[in-house]
Parts: sequence; structure tokens; C-alpha cells
Amino acid sequence: MEIIISPTEREATQLVARIIGKEMAAQPQLVLGLATGNTPLLLYRELIALKLDWTKITTFNLDEYVGLPTEDPQSYHKFMWENLFQHVNIRHENVHIPDGLTKDIPAACARYEQDIRDSGGIDLQVLGIGADGHIGFNEPTSSLASRTRIKTLAAQTRRDNAKFFGSEARVPHHAITMGIGTIMEARQIVLLAFGAHKAKAVADAVEGPVTAMCPASVLQLHPVARVVLDETAASRLTKADYYRWVYDNKPDWQKY
Ligand code: PGA
Repeated sequence: MEIIISPTEREATQLVARIIGKEMAAQPQLVLGLATGNTPLLLYRELIALKLDWTKITTFNLDEYVGLPTEDPQSYHKFMWENLFQHVNIRHENVHIPDGLTKDIPAACARYEQDIRDSGGIDLQVLGIGADGHIGFNEPTSSLASRTRIKTLAAQTRRDNAKFFGSEARVPHHAITMGIGTIMEARQIVLLAFGAHKAKAVADAVEGPVTAMCPASVLQLHPVARVVLDETAASRLTKADYYRWVYDNKPDWQKY
């Protein structure tokens, strides 16, 4: 696991945009795993500004709320089109987001897994982290081997997301999410976290034991996982100075 602590959210997102831009240039048919929420918003703005070529890029989003039509303002379909896809030259058919209105959830989840396999697998997965340590909507105690499926949102997640819906009562109770096992098959993973409210989850994920109680801790087992933080999200890491030292002393060929 590589821990990168940036002075600000802006510098952190610019760094991640550079990583993604470099991968897209090296591999025009890159398969990107994408996330929603507040955290990747600035990243998507940076990616749009880079004016990259998305014509051969394929994307798979982590999750979608069950019961929300694609045109619902709170759906992750809407989020992705408004904040990224409509601003870049991606082909509609190359975008994959779970269908929150599917009548047959298990079949749709199996198809999503098959679509990922058929695309050759996810090359680079972008992740946020919940204040409870979730990745995607894999809440604490999710199986570390789980695949795409329906999950019930934790009370804290519904409270955290109430700001997008206007009230907690309007936050759906269920979501379709890639599983932790699905996420772990991505060839590279970049997890972004900003703000003091993420500091405990980040510390548990990076320096705690690998446990389903903090799903993001599974990334300790991934061979190419980067955790990119601002200072506040890094504030509870006991080895922060070491991570800074490692980053500052990277050989040139390893820099982004
Ligand atoms: P946030 O959500 O970016 O809105 O904080 C992160 C997550 O739940 O993965």
C-alpha cells in the first residue's frame, strides 16, 4: 500500500488525475472503475480539464441506489453524466452503472460481473471511503470475498448521504454494489479521502488489522493500492512522517 499525503485536496486530486491521465495515454482502451460522492467531484473536474481521449475507454461504476430511475437527480447515473461523462467524449455504450430499477437484481448483478470480465477486467479502480470504512456500498461485516449484489445501507451511511436527498427519510435503504472481491480484482486501486471526518476510517484501513469491520482495510492485501489523502484525512495515521519520507524520496521513474 502506498500512502500519499498531499497538503490540500486540490493537490491530491491533481495527482490522481495525472495518474489516470498517464494510464489512459499508455492504454487507450483502459477499463476504469469509478466512484461517486463528494470525494471524486474535484477529480472529475480535473479529468475534464485534461481533455483526454475517452473514445475507447470503458467505465464501470461501483454502485447505484435501488429504486432510483436513471433520471432521478440523486441517482448515480445522473451524478456521473452531469459531473463527468457529458463533458468528455466517452461512448454511451462503454459506460456501465448498475441498474437500480432492475426487476431481477441477482441476474443483473451476475450480468454486471460478466460485463466486467468480458471487458478484460478493471485496470484502475477509483474509490472513496465511508466514515465507517465502507468501499462502494460494502458496509462493515461485508464479506471480503463478496461479489456484485444488493446491500442494505448502514444507518451512518444513510445519515451521511441525507445531505444529498434533503432528508434522511428519502435516502434509499438498498443499493447494488460491486463486491469487495470484485473490487480487489482491479489491477490498480486508488482510494481518495479528504477531511477530518474520514481520519478514523483511513487510520483503521491503513494501519489497523485487515477486517470486514473496516472493508477498506482489505486493500492492505492488494498488490497495487494507493491511498491519496489530504492532511486532515491523514491526521490519525501514526506513521504519517514515514509515508511522507517515502514519497519525498521516490526515485524519479516512480513519480507521477
Ligand atoms: P463521500 O463518500 O465521497 O461522499 O464522502 C465516500 C464513500 O461513501 O465512499
